[in-house]
Amino acid sequence: MSSAKERNPTELEAARKLFAGPCDFVSGAASLDSLPPIALAEVAFAGRSNVGKSSLVNALTGRRTLARVSATPGRTRQINFFHLADTLCLVDLPGYGFAQVSRSTKETWQDLASAYLRGRPTLKRVCVLIDARHGVKESDRETMKNLDSAAVSYQLVLTKADRLKVADIGKAIDAAAAIARQHAAAHPEVLATSSETGYGIPELRAEVMSVAKG
Ligand code: GTP
Ligand code: MG
Repeated sequence: MSSAKERNPTELEAARKLFAGPCDFVSGAASLDSLPPIALAEVAFAGRSNVGKSSLVNALTGRRTLARVSATPGRTRQINFFHLADTLCLVDLPGYGFAQVSRSTKETWQDLASAYLRGRPTLKRVCVLIDARHGVKESDRETMKNLDSAAVSYQLVLTKADRLKVADIGKAIDAAAAIARQHAAAHPEVLATSSETGYGIPELRAEVMSVAKG
Protein backbone atom coordinates (compact mmCIF):
# COMPACT_ATOMS: atom_id res chain seq x y z
CA MET A 1 0.00 0.00 0.00
CA SER A 2 1.24 3.48 -0.74
CA SER A 3 2.31 5.68 2.11
CA ALA A 4 1.91 9.39 1.60
CA LYS A 5 4.50 11.48 3.41
CA GLU A 6 2.99 13.02 6.56
CA ARG A 7 2.76 16.78 6.27
CA ASN A 8 2.47 18.86 9.34
CA PRO A 9 -0.37 21.40 9.52
CA THR A 10 2.07 24.32 9.84
CA GLU A 11 3.75 23.39 6.58
CA LEU A 12 0.39 22.95 4.80
CA GLU A 13 -0.80 26.32 6.10
CA ALA A 14 2.41 28.11 5.03
CA ALA A 15 2.02 26.61 1.56
CA ARG A 16 -1.66 27.58 1.39
CA LYS A 17 -0.70 31.17 2.24
CA LEU A 18 2.09 31.27 -0.32
CA PHE A 19 -0.18 30.02 -3.10
CA ALA A 20 -2.97 32.42 -2.08
CA GLY A 21 -0.55 35.33 -2.63
CA PRO A 22 -0.27 37.31 -5.84
CA CYS A 23 0.49 35.29 -8.93
CA ASP A 24 1.23 36.98 -12.22
CA PHE A 25 1.89 35.84 -15.73
CA VAL A 26 5.36 37.16 -16.54
CA SER A 27 6.08 35.87 -20.00
CA GLY A 28 5.39 33.32 -22.66
CA ALA A 29 8.38 32.01 -24.60
CA ALA A 30 7.91 30.51 -28.04
CA SER A 31 11.64 30.10 -28.60
CA LEU A 32 14.76 29.63 -26.51
CA ASP A 33 15.86 33.21 -27.31
CA SER A 34 12.75 34.57 -25.65
CA LEU A 35 13.05 32.80 -22.29
CA PRO A 36 12.84 35.34 -19.45
CA PRO A 37 16.08 36.15 -17.66
CA ILE A 38 17.04 33.86 -14.80
CA ALA A 39 15.37 35.16 -11.66
CA LEU A 40 13.37 33.10 -9.16
CA ALA A 41 13.58 29.36 -8.47
CA GLU A 42 11.42 27.55 -11.02
CA VAL A 43 9.15 24.52 -10.75
CA ALA A 44 7.89 23.25 -14.11
CA PHE A 45 4.85 21.17 -15.08
CA ALA A 46 5.50 18.71 -17.89
CA GLY A 47 3.47 15.86 -19.32
CA ARG A 48 1.48 14.52 -22.23
CA SER A 49 -0.90 16.89 -23.98
CA ASN A 50 -4.23 17.13 -22.17
CA VAL A 51 -2.91 15.54 -18.96
CA GLY A 52 -3.93 18.66 -17.01
CA LYS A 53 -0.77 20.80 -16.65
CA SER A 54 -2.44 24.17 -17.09
CA SER A 55 -5.39 23.09 -14.92
CA LEU A 56 -2.96 22.11 -12.16
CA VAL A 57 -1.24 25.52 -12.25
CA ASN A 58 -4.70 27.08 -11.88
CA ALA A 59 -5.70 24.72 -9.05
CA LEU A 60 -2.46 25.30 -7.13
CA THR A 61 -2.88 29.06 -7.30
CA GLY A 62 -6.65 28.94 -6.77
CA ARG A 63 -7.26 30.79 -10.05
CA ARG A 64 -9.56 29.61 -12.78
CA THR A 65 -8.11 31.41 -15.75
CA LEU A 66 -4.45 32.08 -15.04
CA ALA A 67 -3.28 29.37 -17.43
CA ARG A 68 -5.39 28.53 -20.47
CA VAL A 69 -7.07 25.15 -20.34
CA SER A 70 -8.72 23.29 -23.18
CA ALA A 71 -10.47 20.00 -23.84
CA THR A 72 -8.50 19.87 -27.10
CA PRO A 73 -4.92 18.60 -26.69
CA GLY A 74 -2.15 20.95 -27.79
CA ARG A 75 -3.56 24.07 -26.11
CA THR A 76 -0.33 25.34 -24.57
CA ARG A 77 2.18 26.05 -27.34
CA GLN A 78 4.73 28.15 -25.54
CA ILE A 79 6.43 28.07 -22.17
CA ASN A 80 4.44 30.20 -19.76
CA PHE A 81 6.07 31.65 -16.65
CA PHE A 82 4.08 32.76 -13.59
CA HIS A 83 5.65 34.51 -10.62
CA LEU A 84 4.14 33.55 -7.29
CA ALA A 85 4.47 36.12 -4.50
CA ASP A 86 7.99 37.09 -5.69
CA THR A 87 9.13 33.75 -4.27
CA LEU A 88 8.97 31.18 -7.00
CA CYS A 89 8.15 30.78 -10.64
CA LEU A 90 5.63 28.20 -11.90
CA VAL A 91 6.31 27.09 -15.47
CA ASP A 92 3.54 25.64 -17.63
CA LEU A 93 5.02 23.68 -20.53
CA PRO A 94 3.56 22.56 -23.85
CA GLY A 95 2.59 18.89 -23.82
CA TYR A 96 4.18 15.98 -25.63
CA GLY A 97 2.82 12.84 -27.26
CA PHE A 98 0.16 14.61 -29.26
CA ALA A 99 -0.27 13.50 -32.86
CA GLN A 100 -2.87 15.81 -34.35
CA VAL A 101 -0.67 18.72 -35.38
CA SER A 102 1.89 18.79 -38.15
CA ARG A 103 5.15 17.16 -37.27
CA SER A 104 7.19 20.33 -37.71
CA THR A 105 4.94 22.46 -35.46
CA LYS A 106 4.83 19.80 -32.78
CA GLU A 107 8.58 19.32 -32.92
CA THR A 108 9.06 23.02 -32.39
CA TRP A 109 7.16 23.16 -29.08
CA GLN A 110 8.38 19.83 -27.88
CA ASP A 111 12.00 20.64 -28.70
CA LEU A 112 11.55 23.94 -26.93
CA ALA A 113 10.16 22.23 -23.83
CA SER A 114 12.98 19.65 -23.77
CA ALA A 115 15.66 22.27 -24.32
CA TYR A 116 14.22 24.33 -21.46
CA LEU A 117 14.07 21.27 -19.18
CA ARG A 118 17.66 20.29 -19.87
CA GLY A 119 19.28 23.68 -19.68
CA ARG A 120 17.66 25.94 -17.12
CA PRO A 121 19.95 26.60 -14.16
CA THR A 122 17.15 27.85 -11.86
CA LEU A 123 14.89 24.85 -12.49
CA LYS A 124 14.55 23.18 -9.09
CA ARG A 125 12.00 20.47 -9.81
CA VAL A 126 9.86 19.18 -12.65
CA CYS A 127 6.45 17.74 -11.89
CA VAL A 128 5.92 15.10 -14.58
CA LEU A 129 2.16 14.75 -14.75
CA ILE A 130 0.62 11.37 -15.42
CA ASP A 131 -3.08 10.76 -16.03
CA ALA A 132 -4.13 8.59 -13.06
CA ARG A 133 -6.35 6.49 -15.32
CA HIS A 134 -3.69 5.70 -17.87
CA GLY A 135 -0.45 5.43 -15.90
CA VAL A 136 3.08 6.02 -17.20
CA LYS A 137 3.29 5.81 -21.01
CA GLU A 138 6.28 5.36 -23.29
CA SER A 139 6.49 9.11 -24.01
CA ASP A 140 6.63 9.74 -20.25
CA ARG A 141 9.50 7.26 -19.95
CA GLU A 142 11.33 9.21 -22.67
CA THR A 143 10.89 12.44 -20.73
CA MET A 144 12.03 10.73 -17.53
CA LYS A 145 15.16 9.40 -19.26
CA ASN A 146 15.96 12.87 -20.59
CA LEU A 147 15.61 14.35 -17.13
CA ASP A 148 17.75 11.55 -15.66
CA SER A 149 20.51 12.23 -18.17
CA ALA A 150 20.36 15.98 -17.53
CA ALA A 151 20.31 15.29 -13.74
CA VAL A 152 17.17 17.40 -13.28
CA SER A 153 15.15 16.42 -10.22
CA TYR A 154 11.55 15.44 -10.95
CA GLN A 155 8.47 13.96 -9.35
CA LEU A 156 5.58 12.02 -10.84
CA VAL A 157 2.23 13.64 -10.06
CA LEU A 158 -0.97 11.84 -10.95
CA THR A 159 -3.75 14.04 -12.35
CA LYS A 160 -7.53 13.57 -12.68
CA ALA A 161 -7.68 11.39 -9.55
CA ASP A 162 -11.40 12.28 -9.40
CA ARG A 163 -11.86 9.93 -12.33
CA LEU A 164 -10.72 6.93 -10.25
CA LYS A 165 -12.49 5.12 -7.44
CA VAL A 166 -10.84 6.03 -4.15
CA ALA A 167 -9.64 2.44 -3.72
CA ASP A 168 -7.82 2.61 -7.06
CA ILE A 169 -5.89 5.80 -6.32
CA GLY A 170 -3.46 3.96 -4.02
CA LYS A 171 -2.89 1.33 -6.70
CA ALA A 172 -2.18 3.98 -9.31
CA ILE A 173 0.30 5.65 -6.94
CA ASP A 174 2.05 2.35 -6.25
CA ALA A 175 2.33 1.51 -9.96
CA ALA A 176 3.84 4.92 -10.75
CA ALA A 177 6.17 4.76 -7.72
CA ALA A 178 7.50 1.38 -8.90
CA ILE A 179 8.47 3.03 -12.20
CA ALA A 180 9.92 6.10 -10.47
CA ARG A 181 12.24 3.80 -8.50
CA GLN A 182 13.84 2.70 -11.79
CA HIS A 183 14.86 6.28 -12.61
CA ALA A 184 17.87 8.00 -11.13
CA ALA A 185 16.55 11.57 -10.89
CA ALA A 186 12.96 10.71 -9.91
CA HIS A 187 11.72 11.60 -6.44
CA PRO A 188 10.46 8.43 -4.76
CA GLU A 189 7.13 9.89 -3.61
CA VAL A 190 4.26 10.06 -6.12
CA LEU A 191 1.42 12.46 -5.38
CA ALA A 192 -2.15 12.08 -6.65
CA THR A 193 -4.16 15.20 -7.43
CA SER A 194 -7.42 16.43 -8.88
CA SER A 195 -7.73 19.96 -10.18
CA GLU A 196 -11.49 19.44 -10.24
CA THR A 197 -11.98 18.52 -6.58
CA GLY A 198 -8.79 19.90 -5.02
CA TYR A 199 -7.70 16.42 -3.89
CA GLY A 200 -3.96 16.37 -3.15
CA ILE A 201 -3.53 20.07 -3.96
CA PRO A 202 -2.53 21.20 -0.42
CA GLU A 203 0.13 18.45 -0.33
CA LEU A 204 1.48 19.39 -3.76
CA ARG A 205 1.63 23.05 -2.70
CA ALA A 206 3.70 22.02 0.34
CA GLU A 207 6.02 19.93 -1.80
CA VAL A 208 6.53 22.72 -4.35
CA MET A 209 7.15 25.24 -1.58
CA SER A 210 9.75 23.03 0.11
CA VAL A 211 11.56 22.42 -3.18
CA ALA A 212 11.64 26.10 -4.09
CA LYS A 213 12.99 27.05 -0.68
CA GLY A 214 15.51 24.23 -0.44
P1 GTP B 1 -1.94 20.97 -23.24
O1 GTP B 1 -1.66 22.40 -22.90
O2 GTP B 1 -2.79 20.83 -24.46
O3 GTP B 1 -0.73 20.11 -23.28
O4 GTP B 1 -2.91 20.35 -22.06
P2 GTP B 1 -2.76 20.47 -20.48
O5 GTP B 1 -1.93 19.33 -19.98
O6 GTP B 1 -2.37 21.83 -20.08
O7 GTP B 1 -4.26 20.13 -20.01
P3 GTP B 1 -5.41 21.16 -19.58
O8 GTP B 1 -5.11 21.70 -18.23
O9 GTP B 1 -5.66 22.11 -20.69
O10 GTP B 1 -6.63 20.14 -19.38
C1 GTP B 1 -7.02 19.25 -20.40
C2 GTP B 1 -8.44 18.76 -20.11
O11 GTP B 1 -8.45 17.95 -18.94
C3 GTP B 1 -9.46 19.88 -19.88
O12 GTP B 1 -10.69 19.50 -20.45
C4 GTP B 1 -9.56 19.92 -18.36
O13 GTP B 1 -10.81 20.41 -17.90
C5 GTP B 1 -9.41 18.44 -18.00
N1 GTP B 1 -8.86 18.28 -16.64
C6 GTP B 1 -7.73 18.83 -16.16
N2 GTP B 1 -7.53 18.47 -14.87
C7 GTP B 1 -8.55 17.67 -14.54
C8 GTP B 1 -8.92 16.97 -13.34
O14 GTP B 1 -8.25 17.02 -12.28
N3 GTP B 1 -10.05 16.20 -13.38
C9 GTP B 1 -10.80 16.10 -14.50
N4 GTP B 1 -11.89 15.32 -14.45
N5 GTP B 1 -10.51 16.75 -15.65
C10 GTP B 1 -9.41 17.53 -15.66
MG1 MG C 1 -1.71 23.42 -21.18
